[in-house]
Amino acid sequence: MRHWLLSLGALLTSGGSTTAAFCRCQPSQPCWPSEANWVSLNSSVEGNLIAVKPFGYPCHDPNFNDAECTIVKENTYSSSYRSSQPGALQWENWESWPEEEEQCYVETDQSTPCKQGRISLFSVIAQTAEHIQAAVKFAAHHNIKLVIKNTGHDFLGRSSAPHSLQILTHGFKNISVADEFVPRTPAGTATSEKIKAVTLGAGVQLREMYAYLGSKGVMVVGGASNTVGVAGGYVQGGGHSYLGWMHGMASDNVLEFQVVLADGSLVFANAYQNTDLFFALRGGGGGSFGVVVSVTVKAYPDYPVVYTMTNYSTTAAEPFWNGVDAFQKHIVRLNDNGGSGWYGIIPDSSSATPGVSTFLAVQVFVNQTNTKSIGELMSPVISDLKNATGIAPLHGIVAFPSMSSMYLALFSGNDTTGLQTRLASRLVSRSFFESGNSTQLTKGLKGLSFGPEEAVVGVVTGGQVSRNRDIKSGLNPAWRDTMVHVIIVRFMSADMTFEEQEAVASNITEHDVPMLRSLEPGKMGAYGNEADADEVNFQESFWGENYPRLRGIKKRRDPGDLFIVRKGVGSESWDDSGLCRVS
Ligand SMILES: Cc1cc2nc3c(=O)[nH]c(=O)nc-3n(C[C@H](O)[C@H](O)[C@H](O)COP(=O)(O)OP(=O)(O)OC[C@H]3O[C@@H](n4cnc5c(N)ncnc54)[C@H](O)[C@@H]3O)c2cc1C
Ligand SMILES: *[C@@H]1O[C@H](CO)[C@@H](O)[C@H](O)[C@H]1NC(C)=O
Ligand SMILES: *[C@@H]1O[C@H](CO)[C@@H](O)[C@H](O)[C@H]1NC(C)=O
Ligand SMILES: *[C@@H]1O[C@H](CO)[C@@H](O)[C@H](O)[C@H]1NC(C)=O
Ligand SMILES: *[C@@H]1O[C@H](CO)[C@@H](O)[C@H](O)[C@H]1NC(C)=O
Ligand SMILES: *[C@@H]1O[C@H](CO)[C@@H](O)[C@H](O)[C@H]1NC(C)=O
Ligand SMILES: *[C@@H]1O[C@H](CO)[C@@H](O)[C@H](O)[C@H]1NC(C)=O
Ligand SMILES: *[C@@H]1O[C@H](CO)[C@@H](O)[C@H](O)[C@H]1NC(C)=O
Ligand SMILES: *[C@@H]1O[C@H](CO)[C@@H](O)[C@H](O)[C@H]1NC(C)=O
Repeated sequence: MRHWLLSLGALLTSGGSTTAAFCRCQPSQPCWPSEANWVSLNSSVEGNLIAVKPFGYPCHDPNFNDAECTIVKENTYSSSYRSSQPGALQWENWESWPEEEEQCYVETDQSTPCKQGRISLFSVIAQTAEHIQAAVKFAAHHNIKLVIKNTGHDFLGRSSAPHSLQILTHGFKNISVADEFVPRTPAGTATSEKIKAVTLGAGVQLREMYAYLGSKGVMVVGGASNTVGVAGGYVQGGGHSYLGWMHGMASDNVLEFQVVLADGSLVFANAYQNTDLFFALRGGGGGSFGVVVSVTVKAYPDYPVVYTMTNYSTTAAEPFWNGVDAFQKHIVRLNDNGGSGWYGIIPDSSSATPGVSTFLAVQVFVNQTNTKSIGELMSPVISDLKNATGIAPLHGIVAFPSMSSMYLALFSGNDTTGLQTRLASRLVSRSFFESGNSTQLTKGLKGLSFGPEEAVVGVVTGGQVSRNRDIKSGLNPAWRDTMVHVIIVRFMSADMTFEEQEAVASNITEHDVPMLRSLEPGKMGAYGNEADADEVNFQESFWGENYPRLRGIKKRRDPGDLFIVRKGVGSESWDDSGLCRVS
């Protein structure tokens, strides 16, 4: 137990505090597993252990490899490729480790050395729950930093950490539909609950799920993307959806998780057993309580849906923002009539001579078929936009026979990723919009400056998301009062220095988020999956009054803090890389 001796040494030199200098074992230290230890882990995971190199590795000297570098370059912006690669994340900035000036960007010069950054050193490409159990036990025993990577979409850097062992859940592709799902009850008890449900392996991604569900005529509450994973960060963080207005958050719809805990055990968590974990995994955030092997969620019919798209583009700033303001005044009315979805504001304020700014809104009406009545609902929106902007917006209404056909038409298979991005966000309440205060939001956004492609996205929720107030789960309670989840999307790039990247990040924390918070001071919160990666007081922002309970569950279920992710439950006790305790 060399790591124990090491921490004892730290204890003696730090003058008695047991936690102050406790760190995960580093590769340079004697506590690091020996070659024989790794071989032994490899055999317990049936040869599925690999040593990981960063995505851009073959593009840099002295290991430059023309053929391999070409493949990497061709797939730089492919989210499906990045999902499958242990050495890649979706957002390049989380592959690098600015504190140590380590990066391995595909875009930088061949002569720039490739450094490991936050990419894990080893990965278990898990195929079975036993492989996950073996990896968890190994990391706990050797005091190694553990990372769970599913697709790597996380915006806050939760699916990477330096000097870590990764569990890659990408291979868990099983999907099944049960007409009469019965949650597993503890021995000696019974339930009469039988419900139509879908069980999804940890690695199932959205587009492949929609394709499968479409073939079965069922639908679940899922996100709007090609390659985000359903059972990982999405559902554990809450999960907003086009189906949310009808059936609530994704986490509201979970019936059961199968999960590997910090002690290596494999358990079921549902309304009948391990109810504390069931509470925590429904909205308490991915990567903080265990490794989910599969999730079972409620199944619904593959509803018909009416999809509307409205947009305009202009080079004139005043009319552009007047249009944004006019649209926002219709959100509550549309929502009360079944409309949810999102809107995008893409202002061009990047140059002295203004370029084209674009506004677009997608409103979906689930379980509706009548395009004429939806057209009537939308008609005041169109005329107000026209009056406000002086231009006739483009507008389209399409009736899809099923949600799956809508998703498959909208999503091609890849999301555009491989960029460097940071977000600012805030959940904004229905009462804010109802009281006519949305003009303050418009003004606040108008006062920010936006670089090329930078944008604001408003995700409109409401409906059943609000009505599910009584569901007891780890989800941020602020969701129940939310009308719009406002996200400001900012970009950085590989040709910036780490200092320049940090300037973009700190602008978000110092300007963007404070502006959004000022709309409803002391109220609401933010969605932890799509938020500032340096969110101030993240515990309150992401979980509100649920935080103390989540923290308690975390302490009981993971006393050794094996599962620590950036801005996750319990992460305040660790440094930003999850390598050393700070309290
Ligand atoms: C293009 C795009 C579209 C999006 N659309 C939506 C949307 O419509 N609705 C919405 O709510 N969100 C959306 N998101 C946000 C998305 O929910 C988060 O990025 C989410 O964290 C992704 O989860 P993942 O498992 O795919 O990613 P990862 O980055 O692999 O994992 C995210 C977190 O979950 C943990 N985790 C992953 N798998 C497991 C597991 N099996 N057990 C335990 N922990 C695990 C990881 O450790 C990490 O902490 C979108 C994001 C992107 C990039
Ligand atoms: C694990 O074993 C497999 C199969 O024998 C081998 O291909 C792989 O290189 C091993 N992994 C490591 C890290 O040595
Ligand atoms: C996936 O399903 C197959 C067939 O039902 C089963 O044999 C296998 O164990 C499942 N895999 C996982 C990881 O659950
Ligand atoms: C969907 O619409 C059908 C037909 O109008 C109706 O019978 C059904 O109750 C609706 N479902 C929901 C969940 O509203
Ligand atoms: C048209 O817009 C102007 C301001 O741009 C506003 O004063 C007026 O009330 C609007 N008219 C209608 C019919 O909405
Ligand atoms: C604007 O809407 C029209 C009609 O629906 C559509 O054809 C076009 O692609 C949209 N433009 C943008 C930028 O979304
Ligand atoms: C995603 O894009 C890559 C190229 O960037 C391509 O090879 C791959 O086939 C695409 N995948 C899907 C599912 O469309
Ligand atoms: C609307 O704004 C006014 C002025 O800032 C404020 O007093 C009021 O509380 C706000 N109402 C809501 C519901 O946010
Ligand atoms: C920070 O924000 C200010 C004000 O919006 C802007 O002028 C400046 O360019 C931003 N800096 C960076 C590095 O993004």
